[in-house]
Amino acid sequence: MCGIIGYIGNKDACELIIAGLKSLEYRGYDSAGIAVAHSGKLEIRKAEGKIDSLIGKKLFENVAGTGGIGHTRWATHGAPSDENAHPHFDCTKTVAIVHNGIIENYTELRDELKSQKHKFISETDTECIAHLLEGKKDLFAALKELHKKLKGSFAILAISAHDNALYAIRESSPLIIGIAKDELIFASDVPAVLAHTNKVVILEDGDIVKAQDGRYEIYNAHAKNGVERKVRTIDWTYDMAQKGGYAHFMLKEIHEQGIAVRNALKSDIRAAVEFVKNATEIEVVACGTSYHAGLVFQYIMKGLTHKKVSAYIASEYPYTNCSSQGTVAIAISQSGETADTLNAVKIAKANGAKIIAVTNVIGSSLDRLADATCLLYAGPEISVVATKTFIAQLTVLYRIAFECIGKKGGLEEVANVIEDVLTKESEYKKLAQEMKDEEHFFFIGRGIAYPIAMEAALKLKEITYKHAESYAAGELKHGPLSLISDGIPVIAIAPKDETFQKTVNNLEECMARKGKGIAVSEQEIPKARLIRMPAVEAIYAPMVYIVPMQMLAYYIAVANGKDPDRPRNLAKSVTVE
Ligand code: M6R
Repeated sequence: MCGIIGYIGNKDACELIIAGLKSLEYRGYDSAGIAVAHSGKLEIRKAEGKIDSLIGKKLFENVAGTGGIGHTRWATHGAPSDENAHPHFDCTKTVAIVHNGIIENYTELRDELKSQKHKFISETDTECIAHLLEGKKDLFAALKELHKKLKGSFAILAISAHDNALYAIRESSPLIIGIAKDELIFASDVPAVLAHTNKVVILEDGDIVKAQDGRYEIYNAHAKNGVERKVRTIDWTYDMAQKGGYAHFMLKEIHEQGIAVRNALKSDIRAAVEFVKNATEIEVVACGTSYHAGLVFQYIMKGLTHKKVSAYIASEYPYTNCSSQGTVAIAISQSGETADTLNAVKIAKANGAKIIAVTNVIGSSLDRLADATCLLYAGPEISVVATKTFIAQLTVLYRIAFECIGKKGGLEEVANVIEDVLTKESEYKKLAQEMKDEEHFFFIGRGIAYPIAMEAALKLKEITYKHAESYAAGELKHGPLSLISDGIPVIAIAPKDETFQKTVNNLEECMARKGKGIAVSEQEIPKARLIRMPAVEAIYAPMVYIVPMQMLAYYIAVANGKDPDRPRNLAKSVTVE
């Protein structure tokens, strides 16, 4: 969702803030802006549009100063527009703020401020924050008061025209401080600070910060005593967050999936395994691609251990009346900041469940809420679409399931098989070229192949904007078969397991109704086009068979002139419910 960056040091703030905003573009946004303090004034530049186009329009030229804040906005309250873009400022233009999250009581705050004759320029929930800080000489003290007034989720940076300092406040929305020599960089996530440093402080809920002269002071609104936040060293590098010669991050990240498996093999899963072994029941909560990883886990864990395992879409979890003592909830989230998943975790925890986090981000909100964390070690995933983190999630989840029954090995070989599949890229590209004008796609599968059909459909619709549906293959004849007509592609995920023949039958039924049958399988299916998969133990099929589906989605998007890294309307880290 929105991206936040702030800089205070001795270099040109504008240039560094724009570079930081560019590294946050992947989060998804519709407008951008900056505010820089210089000679007792604030220079604020903001507009609707992408950063490159705003640079082209010379929006950010001639902005001097060594302290400033910047923002990429993903609209929630008020349409994308110049006025609604951040930063927002008070009536006197001496305080500017940027904000991620949602101020839930903004209507009453706005009414109160309007009655005090404050003039509002935007329709945002955010602007009231700037007016609440108006005229305050000591912004650090003012933020402590502000924290009591605001309801909702917020990561806020504030800058005043009158002192050479930056201020920050965090509640339920991620915010970090990058610590470099004589300079401090605030950001909503790690890639934005990597050009400066890999030393970071991860702020916690209630933290209020003043940063000045290379030092920072933290007060916590919830803590009774003082706070200490440790400086962590992140093992991500600036280069990892670059395209490295690939046309898009998505393609690079698809190609990193063999390495992703090997790195996820290093994750420490011991505490998680103990919890799972002792659990009376296991619940999985996650969203989107992470939910699909959770569904695969549900199938394999039930098959291997006969434990009761239920995967839930996190946003639906509150309505299921689940969890109790003895339950273990496994929350899967690459970002560790997905609001729906965090909310489900809080409910499960309150009901007495132990929480296992499967996440790529150390120090994320999910990591901090969990009783045990399994890190993915997938490196930064910049494309909005999840690819390598999905494979890493599956690797960790398979390991947990295998440990429960004492099964050893196998996953190292899967990394090699994935790399073998990746060498067939030109075939997938050719198929994508042939299918680029299709408007409707169906994906089917049974058992562990069903979540892969779901994930394949999600990838395709996310980045090509084409209509893609996934079905449990056996469900087609209960309704959706009426949608199959002349030439509609039906892609069957058909590993050679006990589901194979039935899936073939269901594909036949589609082809009999003139659907165009395509099989992802190691075996030919009469009349169907084959995307040939290497022979692999059936249980690993989800990790291997998804790879050509990611490639197909990628190349269909590119063939249609779409940017796969930044799909419309979507954000990398969905921090609102
Ligand atoms: O960070 P998370 O894994 O919690 O994100 C969950 C979903 O928002 C995410 O997987 C989304 O579906 C991706 N864009 C899929 O490519």
